[in-house]
Amino acid sequence: MISGDNMIKAKCNTNIALVKYWGKRDENLYLPMTSSISMTLKEFYTITSVDFIDSHEDIFILDGIIQNEKETKKVSRFIDIFREKANIYKKVKVDSINHVATAAGLASSASAYGALAGGLNLLFDLNLNMVELSKLARRGSGSATRSLMSGFVKWDKGIMPNGEDSKAIQLDNGYWDIAMAVVLIDEEKKKISSTEAMKRTIETSPFYEGWVNEQELDILQMERAIKNRDVDKIGKIAERNALKMHATMLGAKPPIIYFQEGTFKVMRIVETLREYGFSLYYTMDAGPNVKIICKKSELDLIEKELEKYFSKDKIITSEIGSGLEILYDDRS
Ligand code: PMV
Repeated sequence: MISGDNMIKAKCNTNIALVKYWGKRDENLYLPMTSSISMTLKEFYTITSVDFIDSHEDIFILDGIIQNEKETKKVSRFIDIFREKANIYKKVKVDSINHVATAAGLASSASAYGALAGGLNLLFDLNLNMVELSKLARRGSGSATRSLMSGFVKWDKGIMPNGEDSKAIQLDNGYWDIAMAVVLIDEEKKKISSTEAMKRTIETSPFYEGWVNEQELDILQMERAIKNRDVDKIGKIAERNALKMHATMLGAKPPIIYFQEGTFKVMRIVETLREYGFSLYYTMDAGPNVKIICKKSELDLIEKELEKYFSKDKIITSEIGSGLEILYDDRS
């Protein structure tokens, strides 16, 4: 195995959706049923090194552990997209460190595929811009589409069957009075993957249609709220949007419930603090952890309040983050 001459190291932050993506219209091309909007987070990210190797197979190392055939295959299929585009069929070594609780509903796949896409873009000399690259990142994980850019990002669902118009658009850099606090309830890998849960929801939930019907309105209102830098509006739309997404899952057969007791506890605390005058709202993804949208200027106070109920190591606060960054480029 020879490697080391073309090493690229990329860092990508994760994002949390404020208007969620839930459901694919094309499972192979990862085309969504609806558009979505997210916020990129500074504190959660993946750093990935990629390099060509003289080997028959790709190698995938995650957090220092060589991954099994199943996990490596997933990554290889993603690398194939870049190999075909570049017409270079070399094998690749991927070495990734995740600074996100992997697969616990904290969107680790978004930063993981974002960083990998960023590295492969240079390794294969494609040099695509972020919008073009978002279409490739999408093929690893839908939420990765939105992770390459900083601030608030929209994933436009597009309408073309080949997915050429299903891409990310930056709405706002987000460097104003907004932040997020994450309360970790359970960091175990989730039992039902988001892909499987989406599929089951579409196929069996009577509420799915209602969800799709309201998404465009939520998108429009969220875009306006972001433009106006209105944290309360952003939070209100995001909170209801998350609850609507989970409602579609409760109606699935068999039902999918990602919430745990701790999830409800945080929701109640958020509601109570809101009564005391703080601007804070919750959102939950495919896992029990709760993300709290709030004002950056109130973040310290909110953190202190949360510490009354949860231990310090379970609370992570974050400002808005940048998207993809290239940390190292050693192409010879
Ligand atoms: O892209 P995936 O498979 O990680 O799915 C993401 C789904 C949600 O996190 C629940 C919503 C979203 O838009 O990120």
